Amino acid sequence: MSTTVAPPARRTAPADLAPDPVAAVTAPGRPADAPADSTAAAALATDSTVAALAAGSTAAAAGPLDVLGVPGQINLDYAATAPCARAAADAVAELLPWYGSVHRGAGALSRRSTLAYERSRERVGDFLGVRADDHVIFTRNTTDALNLLARALPAGTRVVTFGGEHHANLLPWPAGAVRLPVPGSPATAVRSLDAALRELRRGATEAVPILVAVTGASNVTGEVWPVAELALVAHRYGARIALDAAQLAPHAPVDLAALDVDYVAVSGHKLYAPFGIGVLAGRSDWLDAAPPYLAGGGATLAVGAATHDVRWTTGPARHEAGTPNLLGAVALAAVCQALEAADRTALHLHEQALLAHLRAGLAALPEVCELRTFAAEAPRVGIVSFVVAGRDSAEVAAELAQRWQIGLRDGLFCAHPLARRLLAEAASRNGRADLPATALRASIGLGTTRRHVDHLLAALATLTDAN
Ligand SMILES: Cc1ncc(COP(=O)(O)O)c(C=O)c1O
Repeated sequence: MSTTVAPPARRTAPADLAPDPVAAVTAPGRPADAPADSTAAAALATDSTVAALAAGSTAAAAGPLDVLGVPGQINLDYAATAPCARAAADAVAELLPWYGSVHRGAGALSRRSTLAYERSRERVGDFLGVRADDHVIFTRNTTDALNLLARALPAGTRVVTFGGEHHANLLPWPAGAVRLPVPGSPATAVRSLDAALRELRRGATEAVPILVAVTGASNVTGEVWPVAELALVAHRYGARIALDAAQLAPHAPVDLAALDVDYVAVSGHKLYAPFGIGVLAGRSDWLDAAPPYLAGGGATLAVGAATHDVRWTTGPARHEAGTPNLLGAVALAAVCQALEAADRTALHLHEQALLAHLRAGLAALPEVCELRTFAAEAPRVGIVSFVVAGRDSAEVAAELAQRWQIGLRDGLFCAHPLARRLLAEAASRNGRADLPATALRASIGLGTTRRHVDHLLAALATLTDAN
């Protein structure tokens, strides 16, 4: 698929034009229980931040990758759901008057809607670097995409995953899936996969299909996985590889062809588009041979009078029965287009600087312990999980929300086996017996500023001082 996008203006400083939520710490509407002179608020509220707040709504129109948000609320929970990008909101607003049926009507509205849907498929495919004969199937999210792939596996397929995966990449696979131990380093992951595939191929013929399913970046630690190396190993043993790019794609280019990955799954709501849209892209043969993921209108070529007299279509429509999520697809495509046109190296450097600042600040707090699988310096995207020793994580998260208007995540992050293991490892690495049973996670992205990070660090410092 060729790249057909017209690049909008490049941006190098993603957050400086967005309304600064920290400013609203002093703005009217602050929750009544927020202390008027909280250390962080007093330290951070300045004339310029208040001015930025006042100017926020017009300034935010400047760039397609500015994110929407509510002034005063500091969102450090991008890994769960990223805020909506201006590009997505604009694309939806532009299409709304043309709202019409997709693939189901002859009228002008319907034809335009159908065109918009299929163009979105092309743009998202270009963004993901699909090959000419790959399918790009719209789903609800990554979970849906991986479940679709699980249903499309040829009979007898053996699946190999690692124990550190998100539940979406652990649970859909058929019985008998091999779950490799969480590796201590990217190199160990590659070696461990090599050994597992050698063992699986011993005695089994090349004809037994094998699918390796791995994440691109951990939703717990943000650590980046050696995807290209794992793909090389998988292919050496005649296996295919599926990439769960839910956390990688929002932070780094994901190119199927360049990585030599067979399938990729992403979620729109983690990629600055709205909820309810996701993608499974990859090799068409298994997908065309599989029973339709959903049975219904749009997935058929012909339906006869007899109960089972159905001829299913091939191509993406085979797995997209029912009226599709046009606005979701268009919004996701708009973000993909804006990201493609942006200077992603500059975005990466900006995010990495914030991440380093966040991690250094957390490391300086004696009661805070970070969770990690690989070495501390291993590459990672903007996600950090940690605990406050002696404090229940849910209580800390609630306090951060109520007193400091900071939103982050607490729990085991839909990766229970990994999170539990990392909590135990953190306890022994730090020699502490008072770590809580669940963790906190701060995650950053396009709209995050240094002020947001400082605000969290100041809040945690106050909170841990009171311990
Ligand atoms: C690595 C990873 N994979 C899959 C998922 C599932 O994404 P969704 O809930 O959008 O289906 C998530 C969500 O957090 C994730 O972090």
